[in-house]
Amino acid sequence: KKVVLAYSGGLDTSVILKWLQTTYGCEVVTFTADLGQGEELEPARRKAELLGIKPENIFIEDVREEFVSEYVFPMFRANALYEGLYLLGTSIARPLISKKQIEIARQVGADAVAHGATGKGNDQVRFELSYYALEPEIKVIAPWREWELTSRTRLLEFAETHQIPIAKDKRGEAPFSVDANLLHSSSEGKVLEDPNEEAPEYVYQRTISPEAAPDKATYITVTFEKGDAVAIDGVRLSPASLLTKLNELGKENGIGRLDLVENRFVGMKSRGVYETPGGTILLQAHRGIESITLDRGAAHLKDEIMPRYAELIYYGFWFSPEREMLQALIDKSQEFVTGSVRIKLYKGNVEVVGRESPYSLYNQDLVTFEEGAVAYDHRDAAGFIKLNALRLRTLASRHRKMG
Ligand code: ARG
Ligand code: SIN
Repeated sequence: KKVVLAYSGGLDTSVILKWLQTTYGCEVVTFTADLGQGEELEPARRKAELLGIKPENIFIEDVREEFVSEYVFPMFRANALYEGLYLLGTSIARPLISKKQIEIARQVGADAVAHGATGKGNDQVRFELSYYALEPEIKVIAPWREWELTSRTRLLEFAETHQIPIAKDKRGEAPFSVDANLLHSSSEGKVLEDPNEEAPEYVYQRTISPEAAPDKATYITVTFEKGDAVAIDGVRLSPASLLTKLNELGKENGIGRLDLVENRFVGMKSRGVYETPGGTILLQAHRGIESITLDRGAAHLKDEIMPRYAELIYYGFWFSPEREMLQALIDKSQEFVTGSVRIKLYKGNVEVVGRESPYSLYNQDLVTFEEGAVAYDHRDAAGFIKLNALRLRTLASRHRKMG
């Protein structure tokens, strides 16, 4: 019996690791991913070794480029927002972690996978739907739904009994739960549970407050090719480097904070605080370049399907035929989404102030109020309006007749 555990190196997943060894009596293989969460990975290796994991059973991988190019960018082509506001930073990382766990399971001949998500949230669903979609017969172990370590005290006792090192600051109850990667950090629970209480400033970890941001605006240019950002201020960057750079710019200007009450897939409402500095800039920039390169019909259609696409990602259906079908539609729309957008960053705000593209559909000659284009005849507008008004006039005369 072998199990591949999604291992962060933190206290909770270390307890899970020991619990799998002692309760399940299985050989544990750990997988630790660098998703850009901003933590060293070597300590996780040392800790896994300390807990008795054989070196050949410790897998550590930098997946930042794959995360941004294969998950974040495809999602941003859709301008995806869950419930109008959430940029899906946690949701979009889960399918990638799951896929890596399944790949490792195949490689080492493991029959099970395990994760550290609780039994109350979205993440358990996302991990497990992804596992099953990729490996239908896989056995899933979700310790938080199975064990008796239901209080902090019992968890710490278990850690002590099994000589799991506990960082000094981890002895007390953590003030809130965090999930972080290159796209965002999210904070939930504890001090954030009352949705009517403003989140304390110490919750924020990757943005300065808009109030503390410089009084002078920062201007940047973001260049897109076929819907994906490829350069900042004319400098070409890999997907992960580009997002890293946007995160820095966003951080300094107090951009991308969100305090949200959302509907979890499992049925409850939850309050979270999100910081998505680079993603918030990227969304505006992408909408900016689409505004001149997408036809109206194409633009409106992709906006119609966007909430459905975002919901699929939030619910954990990344590896589903319906998500892939919508993705094909979205990707097709991006064929000419190429060009540059000038952006002004100022005290928490992102403003598109300029856009240009070799494929621009914007026709100054057509739109100008001055004497212009032959393609547009003012007289055509009169008939266009009259025919569109026909129904409305019919209704209005019935209304008048009825008194
Ligand atoms: N509510 C967010 C989502 O479902 C984040 C979940 C994980 N965040 C956390 N702080 N544990 O995508
Ligand atoms: C968790 O339950 O582990 C985090 C919150 C969520 O997944 O919604």
